[in-house]
Amino acid sequence: MKKQNLEKILIKIFMNHKLNKDHARICSQALINAELVGAYGHGLSRLKMYCNRIKKKLINPKPKIKVKKISNSISLIDANNSIGFVSADIGIKKAISNAKKTGIGMVGIKNSGHYGLSGYYAEQAIKQNLITMIYTNAPPAIAPHGSMKSLFGTNPICFGCPSGSKIPFILDTSISMINRGKIRVAAANNEKIPEGVALDRYGKPTTNAKQALQGVQLPIAGFRGSGLAWMVDILSGVLTGSNHAGKVKDPFDDFSGPQNIGHLIITFKSNLFVKNFNNRIKNNIQIIKKLPKIKGIKKILYPGENKFYRFKKNIKNEIKINDSIEKDIKKLLVN
Ligand SMILES: NC(=O)c1ccc[n+]([C@@H]2O[C@H](COP(=O)([O-])OP(=O)(O)OC[C@H]3O[C@@H](n4cnc5c(N)ncnc54)[C@H](O)[C@@H]3O)[C@@H](O)[C@H]2O)c1
Repeated sequence: MKKQNLEKILIKIFMNHKLNKDHARICSQALINAELVGAYGHGLSRLKMYCNRIKKKLINPKPKIKVKKISNSISLIDANNSIGFVSADIGIKKAISNAKKTGIGMVGIKNSGHYGLSGYYAEQAIKQNLITMIYTNAPPAIAPHGSMKSLFGTNPICFGCPSGSKIPFILDTSISMINRGKIRVAAANNEKIPEGVALDRYGKPTTNAKQALQGVQLPIAGFRGSGLAWMVDILSGVLTGSNHAGKVKDPFDDFSGPQNIGHLIITFKSNLFVKNFNNRIKNNIQIIKKLPKIKGIKKILYPGENKFYRFKKNIKNEIKINDSIEKDIKKLLVN
């Protein structure tokens, strides 16, 4: 389907679910972006889930979002259980304007929901020549190192900065071996997941996506990944006043209350300490790209390049929609 047509349909669906046009557009564009960068687990495959949670009054379609000024640099947003896309959009814009005024902007967001891809918001800051760090917690998926119970989310860590070229540097990575969205998509399509990414509920390694969803996902790099997930839970959950320590609700199957996810966004000017950051980073990247390559590698990429190229390729084509999502869309358009 053409991007423009899909956007019109998604806006209509979100407006049918009582979002205003502005919020419906923000959500639709974020979902389409996820499809275009190939992050299918955070794209249209979640549309039905958001609508279900709105119907069950767990996402507030008409939130009264409050932005509290803590200082010229720091703000705290109470998202009033909005859909995460909307609060994150307000949050990144506030962090950008704070950074432009004072050099650094820091925004905590509480009472929010799943906002999709951290890198999507990082792009906005980088376009303004800012460096950014973005954190969000997520529902339990990963067992803390040494435990048999899932507690940390896949808690992505995002760092972005200008690269001195039109392709931004964006390291945006979950701390799980693979992201939960990919396991959900594999489960829905009866596909296997790679070895070494999950255990079943008895603690045995599995490649069965459905069993993995009932068991635990493994963090990257053992106790180091577990530590990073913990850090993200502290920064986004404990610090902002949001749910933490395994209390963030799974949006797909826990309807006992709103998610109350927390996000933390930090942005700062790239010329705080040196005047020529863009030249310096360009030089830094050039040195790394010119390193001798191992067999099979044609080009050393920096984080963000792969997504940029995928986006550039996909934007030229129609967006593919699978049968089950097409069915969801048809149903959601009428109720
Ligand atoms: N909102 C949530 O709760 C939530 C939870 C988890 C993940 N996410 C999002 O899911 C998305 C996907 O996460 P992921 O961990 O699957 O990402 P990924 O594994 O696809 O990529 C991780 C990072 O590695 C970089 N990368 C990939 N291949 C590379 C290469 N060959 N050379 C150099 N760098 C390379 C990517 O550009 C990216 O920055 C992220 O945008 C993340 O924010 C969201």
